[in-house]
Formats: sequence, structure tokens, C-alpha cells
Amino acid sequence: MATFKAPKGTYDLIPPVSVKYLAVREAISAPLRNSGYGYIETPGFEDVGLFARGVGESTDIVSKEMYAFETKGGDQLALRPEGTASVLRAALEASLHKQGNLPVKLWYSGSYYRYERPQKGRYRHFSQVGAEAIGAEDPALDAELIILADQAYRSLGLSDFRILLNSLGDKECRPVYREALQSFLRGLDLDEETVRRAEINPLRVLDDKRADVQKQLVGAPVLRDYLCDACKAYHEEVRALITAAGVAFEDDEKLVRGLDYYTRTTFEFVHDGLGSQSAVGGGGRYDGLSEMIGGPALPSVGWALGVDRTVLALEAEGVELDIPASTSVFAVALGEEARRVLFAKVTELRKAGVAADFSFGGKGLKGAMKDANRSGARFAVVAGERDLAEGLVQLKDMESGEQSAVALAELVDTVKARLA
Ligand code: HAM
Repeated sequence: MATFKAPKGTYDLIPPVSVKYLAVREAISAPLRNSGYGYIETPGFEDVGLFARGVGESTDIVSKEMYAFETKGGDQLALRPEGTASVLRAALEASLHKQGNLPVKLWYSGSYYRYERPQKGRYRHFSQVGAEAIGAEDPALDAELIILADQAYRSLGLSDFRILLNSLGDKECRPVYREALQSFLRGLDLDEETVRRAEINPLRVLDDKRADVQKQLVGAPVLRDYLCDACKAYHEEVRALITAAGVAFEDDEKLVRGLDYYTRTTFEFVHDGLGSQSAVGGGGRYDGLSEMIGGPALPSVGWALGVDRTVLALEAEGVELDIPASTSVFAVALGEEARRVLFAKVTELRKAGVAADFSFGGKGLKGAMKDANRSGARFAVVAGERDLAEGLVQLKDMESGEQSAVALAELVDTVKARLA
């Protein structure tokens, strides 16, 4: 018989580690839920054209990494490689922007797919929690998002991360810079592919990781010198607001990001314990994206934080999340009659809001107590025929080892009181 494995570049989230992923998603979304962001969920696949137009035909994400396919009905679809284009598409489709409440603030959490070369921290299926604030050009919104991401990471106990910040200019000043950079790049000794990239997407060349390329890039024109007054003023205001919030950042004029829709503010959260895949999150402003996908002008800003890499960052920093045991009471029944009675008690405990589990599979006392231990439960409830004949169960405190008889009828109240 064939045995199947998770596809290359993917992995399964399984207990006990999976609980960390839930905790990370919870921690990243908590500041958003607390700041007026509403939850949105969109399909795992979209019309391929949405990403081609939105993320950009010339990006690696679209040209090399997209899971694109034709359906039996002849539709051209792609598994979503990112969330921003989908969320904006959904907001436009539902006319959220016409309800007089701009910015529309949304958050999401889900799976994304990129056909990348797998390595530690880089997968073909990964998960993000993201936020998009649609329809307002306001530096305070850019600042809000950066501050909330910082707060999310700090609430998890992370500290070895840095925020890199840049402005990519707008449709006035970026083309001028692009020209200048292109003519500089044309004078360099670059390989064929890089020459091609310089023609299609010259800013991406600045991102080249190779030392010989970086050496040649010394003296390249920098975007900062080309920013128009409006972009400069906007960026200064974003910087001032983040600074006032006590959030430290580094200006990084080389930060260009791998998606084409960015304008003005761009940022990345990098973690120093992760090696080459150090970006734990990133985002920025995308003032032109709505028009690129057929909508009205809706200046917007957002970010997405990678859940997988955030979990790796926690491990790199040795942060142990304070995750309470999932089970508070574990019931061990000895004999058929006791099974029936205790099984009913477990249901009653659960209805009363107490996390409870039961020894299934007809194990003996020893095996069942092992399960009780493994469950992390604070209390074990043990009962055999003799206890029950007297209307009693044995309540064992798994921390102190103390055991006492409790009336069956008072079990729920007793447990609730002792857990409180
Ligand atoms: P991105 O920088 O492509 O931005 O992805 C955001 C984060 O997702 C990365 O920093 C990383 O943590 C995680 N990530 C990306 N690719 C992988 C992968 N192959 N394996 C593991 N983790 C990965 C975006 O996706 C934009 N939509 C962010 C945004 C929202 N910009 C504006 N709004």
C-alpha cells in the first residue's frame, strides 16, 4: 500500500505544537480586533488575473510562484499567494467603500500558497494574519498599523525584531527615480536576467542579495533624493507618529518589497534569529491598487505577518508561551456502571464551562491515570462501583497529589470552586 506524505514544502500542524499557531494568530489579531478592524474571509482561490494585475506580472510571486490552473469549466484560477488583492476585491464587490465609513478596516487569517524553493521558514503553504485599511490617505493610519504589529509581537514576548521603514514615492516622483535608476543600471556589468529585471522592475535590482551586484550598486541613485514634497511630508509624519508611540524603527532606503502595488510607506519586520528567511511580516501603502483592479481611487495601507515565521521567532528567542492546559478535569471510571455515571458528569462539567475529558477505551486504573497525567488536567475524578454505591467520587488534585471523597451531586460545584 502506498504511504502518503505531506507535499513538498508543506507541513502539518499537530499537537502539542499546533496550539502555538493558534496562540500566535490570536495574539496578532487581538490588537486589530481592539482597534476597529472587522473580520473578513475570502476564497482560497481567485481569478488569476486579479493577482497578475494586482501583485504584478513581473514579480516572482506571479511569474514563478503562482499555483495557477484551469478548472473543468475553463476558468483560469490561482491559489491565493497573498491576501491584499483578494481583500480589496471583496471590499469593492460588496461596495464596503460606499457606505460612508472610510477607511474600511479589515483583518484576516488564512493559508497562502507560493511555489517557492522550500527551506527553513519558506514553505509552499504558509499562513498569515493580515490587516488592510482601505480608502484613506492618512499617515496616522500607516502609523496605527505599524504600532499594532509591534504590539502584537511584543505581546507574544518577542524582542529581537527590527522594523525597517521606507517610502517608495508615488505616481509623481517614482517614475522620475525609476528613469534615473535605470540609466545607472544600464552602465553596470550585470548578467542577462538582471539586465532584464532592470528594464521591467529596476527597484527590485536593489534587493539583489549577491555581493558582486551589491558592490556595483554603491553610488546608485537613492529614492529618498527623488521623493516629491508631498511624499516627503507624508513620510515625515508617519515617522513622527511612530516615534511618538515609542516604537523604534530603522530607515532602510533599500527596502523595496516583492509586490508591485506599493506606494509611499513600506515596511518590514525582520527577526534576527531566523537566518535568511528573516522577514516575519511586511506591508505598506498601496494607493493605486484599487484602480489597477478596476475600482475607484482608494488609497489604502496594510500588512501581513507570517504565522509560521513568528512561531520560528518564538523558538529562536526561547519564548515559552503561557498556554493554559486545555483540560481541567479528567474522569477515570472503573467498571461499566461508573463509566455511565462519570460520562454523564463529564458532559455536565463541560456544559458548566469546565474543560473536561474522559478515559476512553476501557483502560485499567494505571493506564487511565497516565492519560489523566498526560492531559495536563488539574484534577482527576476517579470512581468505581463502591464509591458510587455511597454517592461519592474521589477527587485527586494532580498538583499536590491530595485526594478526597466528594459527593457526586456536588462534584460540579466543588470543581468549579477549586478551579476559581
Ligand atoms: P509578503 O511580504 O509577501 O507580503 O508576506 C508577508 C509575510 O508572510 C512575510 O513577511 C512572511 O513572514 C510570510 N511569508 C511569505 N511567504 C512565505 C513563505 N513562502 N513561507 C513562509 N512564510 C511566508 C504580503 O503578502 C502582502 N500581502 C502584505 C500586505 C498586506 N501589504 C499590504 N497589505
